[in-house]
Amino acid sequence: MNFRPAIFLISGFIYLFSFPVFSAQPEINQSAVASAHPTATSAGFEILGQGGNAFDAAVAVTATLAVVEPMGSGLGGGGFWLLHRASDGFQVMLDGREKAPAAATRDMYLDKQGAVIDGLSLNGALAAAIPGLPAALVHLASKYGKLPLRQSLQPAIRAAEKGFTVYPRYQKLLKFRLAHLNEAAKKVFLTDDNNIPAIGALIIQKDLAASLRRLAIGQRDGFYKGETAEKMLKAVSSAGGIWTQSDLDNYQVVERKPVIGDYHGAQIVSAALPSSGGIVLLEILNILSGFELDALTPTERKQKIIEAMRLAYKDRAEYLGDSDFIQLDQSRLISMAHADQLRAGITNKATPSDFLSETTPPEGQDTTHFSIIDDHGNRVSATLSINYPFGSALLAEGTGIVLNDEMDDFSASPGVENSYGLIGSSANAIEAGKRPLSSMTPSFIEKDGDVLVLGTPGGSRIITMVLIAALDFLHGNGELADWLAHGRFHHQYYPDVVQFEPGAISKAEQAELSLLGYELKERQSTYGNMHAVLFKSDGDLEAASDPRWLGKAEVRKVSSEDAATIVR
Ligand code: GLY
Repeated sequence: MNFRPAIFLISGFIYLFSFPVFSAQPEINQSAVASAHPTATSAGFEILGQGGNAFDAAVAVTATLAVVEPMGSGLGGGGFWLLHRASDGFQVMLDGREKAPAAATRDMYLDKQGAVIDGLSLNGALAAAIPGLPAALVHLASKYGKLPLRQSLQPAIRAAEKGFTVYPRYQKLLKFRLAHLNEAAKKVFLTDDNNIPAIGALIIQKDLAASLRRLAIGQRDGFYKGETAEKMLKAVSSAGGIWTQSDLDNYQVVERKPVIGDYHGAQIVSAALPSSGGIVLLEILNILSGFELDALTPTERKQKIIEAMRLAYKDRAEYLGDSDFIQLDQSRLISMAHADQLRAGITNKATPSDFLSETTPPEGQDTTHFSIIDDHGNRVSATLSINYPFGSALLAEGTGIVLNDEMDDFSASPGVENSYGLIGSSANAIEAGKRPLSSMTPSFIEKDGDVLVLGTPGGSRIITMVLIAALDFLHGNGELADWLAHGRFHHQYYPDVVQFEPGAISKAEQAELSLLGYELKERQSTYGNMHAVLFKSDGDLEAASDPRWLGKAEVRKVSSEDAATIVR
């Protein structure tokens, strides 16, 4: 096999790598889909039932999540789709991350004194980067799918027209962003008298259905040109934003080589830059691989994991940004030599982040994730985002499309925290056309013939959630459902605090960790929404959704009965 890296242009898309990785896999006669909403999971099965593969199903699930979970992802946002094609083992990460518009500048969120203006990168038109999700759907369908885009988009169009019923998480996040919603968003998401709709109320999105239909018919031009583009540009400019038609014309999806590494013989395949997810995950695992985790007490184990998190997030803060814009020796960061050096500095107590160096750390947000394996063994692990819940809270009038606030994932100023308390360096400074650094970590983990496909939303905590579930899998700690249910804890270098879900660190462990110098912060509520599927070496499939929310995970033999509505 030839792994020569190359950059070349074919039919409007940038191809950075062609990266075959072969792994033998027995025939499977079932498919598994796990997503954040039952309607999105059904959409995946519907398209599989119509003869689609996992990539067509991914189009359907992505588009349906945009409808039924509008606070997490959508046409106005972006994401990363990690793909594994069973026929030849080809693996690639589709980068549909948003890009800063051409008029964006390094200091665009600073006042005359150089202080960050509160909320400018989070709320409203200036917070929105150029969306990548629609271009990624077109690319996914045309290059990897078997069905036309217009067919795979049908379940989403139907969901937008028929409506979804309000559920607790929608209510909660709507309440959280209520003060910032523009009038067009209020009309779609609130009741006629501008209140939070009751559980079970129907949210119908006719304009979004029309935008999806224009995408289905016009493909890329159905979003980036014509009616949808004009309406988005009008909404952005009338709200003080800086998008232009040429920003939309210039948006390109990029195929990137995933980050690949090893943990005691298991293979880790994860997100590449502009997501920090894969690099940080591997750095932590590399550091931990030098400890006998199974021989440690629960407190000792957590202490080593926390220190590894701290060190890897420090590197994230210092070095990581869009690889199309920065010079980075990625292989050094994910090398065992680097991990050995970092591990050597870990003692049996807390090493305050202030002692490590004078540099700064970075970012994250609300988002969504789904995982799929089809009956041929094709896999998709996708994490999608409009960043903060309901993105910039600006819905472009007449389109049903909520614009993202992914610009907040840039570092607005060195050392200044973003909405997730992360800080960054010049590597993640704002530049025209640059992609903001992400934490999204769609991953495949292969161990002894078993393959775990997983990911989660959750801002800066995404990487450590994936880590904790991965460690459970790698160390045989329970079953798939347990790995998603186990309590989560997190350290991100700065703030120098161990955050954890209620009960995730026992009172006795808290006391021990405090004595070792850790500041601990028990969160008031849980976090994350992980969806995973597991292929077992004996040919069995399992699927699980995070027990914290209403996701739906299912394994079944797809039949023609799944093919609810075939639209040609
Ligand atoms: N907006 C979430 C992330 O990219 O990390």
